[in-house]
Amino acid sequence: MSEFQAYFTNDGSVGLYSQNYDDIYHSATGALTEAYEKFIYPINWDVLLLHDNINILDICYGIGYNTKCFLNFIFQNKKKFLKKKNNFKKFLNKDQSSNEDIASIYADKIITPKTKNCNETIYTDNVFNKISVTAIDNDEILFGLSPFIKTGVKNFKNDSDLLNKHNIERYLKKKNKNFPKIKNLINFQILSKIAQNSPEIPQNPRIMSILNTKEYSRFFIGDLRRINKYLLKYTSSDYNLSNLHNIYYRYLSYCYKNRLKRYKIQDFDFNIKIDDARNVIIDDKNLYNLIFLDAFTPSKCPCLWSYDFFRRLYEILEADGMLLTYSSSAQVRSAMKEAGFEIGYIYNKRLKKYQGTVAVKNKLLIKHPLSDADLGLLNTKAGIFYRDENLNAQNEAIIASHKIEVENSNRISSSQYLKTRRNNGL
Ligand SMILES: C[S@@+](CC[C@H](N)C(=O)[O-])C[C@H]1O[C@@H](n2cnc3c(N)ncnc32)[C@H](O)[C@@H]1O
Repeated sequence: MSEFQAYFTNDGSVGLYSQNYDDIYHSATGALTEAYEKFIYPINWDVLLLHDNINILDICYGIGYNTKCFLNFIFQNKKKFLKKKNNFKKFLNKDQSSNEDIASIYADKIITPKTKNCNETIYTDNVFNKISVTAIDNDEILFGLSPFIKTGVKNFKNDSDLLNKHNIERYLKKKNKNFPKIKNLINFQILSKIAQNSPEIPQNPRIMSILNTKEYSRFFIGDLRRINKYLLKYTSSDYNLSNLHNIYYRYLSYCYKNRLKRYKIQDFDFNIKIDDARNVIIDDKNLYNLIFLDAFTPSKCPCLWSYDFFRRLYEILEADGMLLTYSSSAQVRSAMKEAGFEIGYIYNKRLKKYQGTVAVKNKLLIKHPLSDADLGLLNTKAGIFYRDENLNAQNEAIIASHKIEVENSNRISSSQYLKTRRNNGL
C-alpha cells in the first residue's frame, strides 16, 4: 500500500500526497475542481446523452473523484439532461453544428442502431437507464477510503509542518471561492457497492485504522464512518444490503430523504479491480463510452502511458467514445496518435486555456483540434513515446529503453523545433 499524507486542497476537498512517488494525487487548486474541469466538463454530453446504457472505465480510481464527479454532475443537471433527451429533435435543430456532427456520425453507422432511435428511450425517468463503472487502482486502501472523503469544507486548516515536511506547501496557493461538494448519496452508493461487490475491503484493518485515527479523521465524513461500523457487522455471510440502507436512512433528515428520492440511482454497477491497470485491460471484453486516465505523471508511471497501453485502450473504446486525461505531454499525445486516436485539447473555461487531452476514434467529436505547432511537436524528440510491448515491463525498464531510443534518435529536439518556428515568424 502506498504511504500518503492527506491535506485540504484549495476548494475544500481532500487531496493526497504519495511519499513513494513523491507526487501529488490531486491538484492543489482543488481536487474536485480538477476532476470536473479535466474529466467531466470536456465530455461530449450531446453524444453521451444519446445512449441509455453507458460504460465507464476509471483508470487510477484513487479516492474516486472522477467517478463521483461524473455521478454528481448528472444529478446536478438531471432536469436539463432529461429535457434534452425529451426534446431531442428540438435540441438538435437549435444547435446546428452539433446537429451536423451527430447526423454524420449516424450516417456513418458508427453508433449501433439500438441507440439511433431516440424515441424509444426519451421518456425514461433517469438520464441513463444503466451506468456501469469499472474502476481500477492497485491500491485497495484508497478504494476503501473513497466513500468517506470530505468535500466542500469551507473553513479548513492545514497543518503547515506536515505540508512543509512533505513538500506539499509549494503546491498550495490561494483558497478558491468555490467549495464544490459531492452529494452524500453518491458516497453512500459507492460505499454500498464496495460492500456488496468486495466485502473484504471494508474489513481491511488498515482502512479501519486510518478512518479512526485522530490525525486523519477530520478528512472523513463522520456519518458514513458510523454506517461503516454497522457495515462491518454485516459483511459476514448473513450480510444484507437492506440493513445498510436502513442504517443510512436513520442518519438522514426528513428533508434530505425527500430529495434523495429524486436523485435515486436506478441502476448503477460498480466493478472494482484492485490490480495493475494493464492486467485488467488486457483481457477486458467490454466497450467503453468514457475512459478516464488519471495515472501519475508519465515520468513516474510510464507503464500507463505507453503506445501499447493506448493501443489496447483504442480497442476497448466505443466508436463514439472518448478518452480523457489531464496530460498535455507531446509524448503521450504521439502515443495516442500512433495507436489510432484522433486527439484534441481540453479547454478550461475558468482559466481560459487549454489543459489536457481528449482522444476519440471519430474526428467529428473533437471540439478543439491541436494547433500545427503542437502537432509538429509530436515529431520531435519530445514526441518519442514509451513502449511496453507485452504490457508487463517494470517502470524502470520502460524508462531505460525510452532513454536509449531518444539518445539514438535523429529527430530534432523540441527546443530546436520551437526556435526554428520562431525564426520563421510562426
Ligand atoms: C493521480 S492518482 C489518481 C487520483 C484519482 N483519480 C482520484 O480521484 O483520487 C494515481 C493513482 O494511480 C494508482 N496507480 C499507480 N500505478 C498503477 C497501476 N500500474 N495500475 C493501477 N493503478 C495504479 C495509484 O494508486 C493512485 O491512486
